[in-house]
Amino acid sequence: MNAPAIATEDVVKTFGEVEAVRGVSLEVPQGTVFGLLGPNGAGKTTIVRMLTTILKPTSGRATVLGVDCAKDPERVRHIIGLAGQYAAVDENLTGYENLRMVGRLTHLPKATIKPRADELLERFNLAHAASRPVRTYSGGMRRRLDLAAALVHKPTVLFLDEPTTGLDPRSRNDLWQVIEDLVKDGTTVLLTTQYLEEADRLAEMLAVIDNGEVIARGAPTELKTSFGATVVEIGLSNARNAARARKLLEQFGHAELLVDGTTVEVKLEEGPKGVTALVRALDTAKLVPDRLIVREPTLDDVFLSLTGHAAEVRATDDEHEEGERGAA
Ligand SMILES: Nc1ncnc2c1ncn2[C@@H]1O[C@H](COP(=O)(O)OP(=O)(O)OP(=O)(O)O)[C@@H](O)[C@H]1O
Ligand SMILES: [Mg+2]
Repeated sequence: MNAPAIATEDVVKTFGEVEAVRGVSLEVPQGTVFGLLGPNGAGKTTIVRMLTTILKPTSGRATVLGVDCAKDPERVRHIIGLAGQYAAVDENLTGYENLRMVGRLTHLPKATIKPRADELLERFNLAHAASRPVRTYSGGMRRRLDLAAALVHKPTVLFLDEPTTGLDPRSRNDLWQVIEDLVKDGTTVLLTTQYLEEADRLAEMLAVIDNGEVIARGAPTELKTSFGATVVEIGLSNARNAARARKLLEQFGHAELLVDGTTVEVKLEEGPKGVTALVRALDTAKLVPDRLIVREPTLDDVFLSLTGHAAEVRATDDEHEEGERGAA
């Protein structure tokens, strides 16, 4: 049988008092995309660092294609590529020079370095900026260059730590396309993300992680159907009616007033068939909705019902500009 592309077995990492990762076991088959989904501080980067040989586990084992990351880091480094949460490109070198440097560091035959760099610059839409210093690049361009750098030596297993955090929707979409193309070519990808939409689109299997532990796993659709419920959003004309509606609708499931103060969100315990009764109750109470939306659960709903807090954390403007360099 083929070794899994990526595996952790009851892996633990503590930093002094802090238990960053508390016994996580994962298995990623070759040629698939695996998503590690969790909020700030969940332990995502720490798991990636153990798998990419930057950190040694306190206990447990991490392997890539069956090779032990702690015992044989050199061999693992040949197989893998890493594009980090903190773009690792050199500001003062040009895009081309960055890729050439990686080619040298990964011992690519000299004659193949330039064509490979050119090919990647082309593929990531950076050819026009190849001879400009990276400090003149936008956040999105840096991310693309960082990913290109991770691919110079044609890794078969790729780790992407929050590849699109801080990117605008268009750059995010472009990067998703690139990742999908890589997977088509047979690369195995483990990506971490705080964006449920990203996990939903890219990952075949997911582990939801919170506080250093896996709290759920499965395919995105599985997670959504097992933990989510049909959601109804009712917009009322004012805050007073919204408060009344919230109280009234509690009988149908968890009912919550959203931050706008006039929208009530109800998670229907009975699923879609509860909608008629809900509308009837509103009618009887003479609460006329301005808006009524019925939708299937998103991963966001799943996350909320699992942890009691939301997963998505918006990137700040600083992160957007600087690619989070200072935060490391
Ligand atoms: N080198 C370190 N020394 C001490 N504590 C650390 C270290 N690295 C990580 N931690 C702690 O371990 C926990 C997990 O951190 P980690 O960076 O893995 O989270 P994350 O899921 O990647 O979060 P984010 O989404 O913010 O990147 C946090 O509480 C963090 O403060
Ligand atoms: Mg992280």
